[in-house]
Amino acid sequence: MKPFDVYPLYPIEPVRGRGCHVYDKAGTEYLDLYGGHAVISIGHSHPHYVAALADQVSKLGFYSNSVQNSLQTKLADLLGKMSGYEEYSLFLCNSGAEANENAMKLASFHTGRSKILAFSKAFHGRTSGAVAATDNPKIVSPFNRTANVVFVPLNDIDAVRSELSHGDFAAVIIEGIQGVAGIHVPDDEFLVKLREETKRTGTMLILDEIQSGYGRTGRFFAHQYAGIRPDLITTAKGMGNGLPIGGVLISPEFEAVYGMLGTTFGGNHMACAAGIAVLEVMREEKLVDNALRVGEYLMAQLRTIPTAKDVRGRGLMIGFDVDGSGADLRRRLLFEKHIFTGGAGLSTIRLLPSLAITEEHADLFVNALKDLTL
Ligand SMILES: Cc1ncc(COP(=O)(O)O)c(C=O)c1O
Repeated sequence: MKPFDVYPLYPIEPVRGRGCHVYDKAGTEYLDLYGGHAVISIGHSHPHYVAALADQVSKLGFYSNSVQNSLQTKLADLLGKMSGYEEYSLFLCNSGAEANENAMKLASFHTGRSKILAFSKAFHGRTSGAVAATDNPKIVSPFNRTANVVFVPLNDIDAVRSELSHGDFAAVIIEGIQGVAGIHVPDDEFLVKLREETKRTGTMLILDEIQSGYGRTGRFFAHQYAGIRPDLITTAKGMGNGLPIGGVLISPEFEAVYGMLGTTFGGNHMACAAGIAVLEVMREEKLVDNALRVGEYLMAQLRTIPTAKDVRGRGLMIGFDVDGSGADLRRRLLFEKHIFTGGAGLSTIRLLPSLAITEEHADLFVNALKDLTL
């Protein structure tokens, strides 16, 4: 048997990681400004994280959700305090798509409605409901296609108003910052009005913070720039720094009923140990502040390069466009400069590094980009 060939692969195999770098078999060092797609939040193989996981697996790696697990309580408590959502509850699952799936299901249970409003170019994952709310027909199978999801343009409050006025939407789902689409920040004013409209029509507001959350933008969640409080917030990626874990933060208006949600692996001991270690490192090393500071520095530097067009984002969730093929430039950055970056569309470069990168790492990237494009 061999792996199902659905990923185009770079001919590189990282075998070791440390901080903001990964290394291949030959020991070549690569600067990681992609974080394995926004997953590496505190840095590769952080000593506190490694020790926490080693300790946990030596004690108990897994037991089911039919018994008490104080690691879940500790993780929820810490996440509540650090995110500013202490009165919310936490449902733990295994991935971003699964978090969105559960959030939409909760909104539907709660309202008794079946429709979801989503936005053009949105990406919410690849499971049935999540992919139906994803605006990319290429990855939506006939089985997933449904008339229950309606798309409207981002930042178009009139289109939102007109749809929600029918009173039959369970939820609106929106990314804190659109990531896969190429880093598009919703206007703060739009988010405030969206919150008002959803409240007025009894529609749940789901903030998908799977890519934009967990400190990446310089706030714990990107929507906090707009000062709104959603009904449901979904998170994954940086939450476990590589250990698969996702979560839904659920406002007190939702009533939990035994059996309404569930998962075998969600909230398991290893995932919780990883989640707790991530938050402890974020707090100790003030990584949210670092993301804001280094992100602003990096964006300011990029804006001085004429070949980096329309530099956009917040904190360390950064996008810019280039002339010609973004994929070609990313290959050159990787093979000639040993720097991992992300892409979007034909000509967008996306930077999603660990929240621990420094101004020196930012300078290295800016100089490499100048070298290759000026
Ligand atoms: C905004 C957003 N939502 C959901 C997902 C899906 O997460 P996962 O791949 O963990 O299912 C992603 C993944 O890229 C994402 O960026």
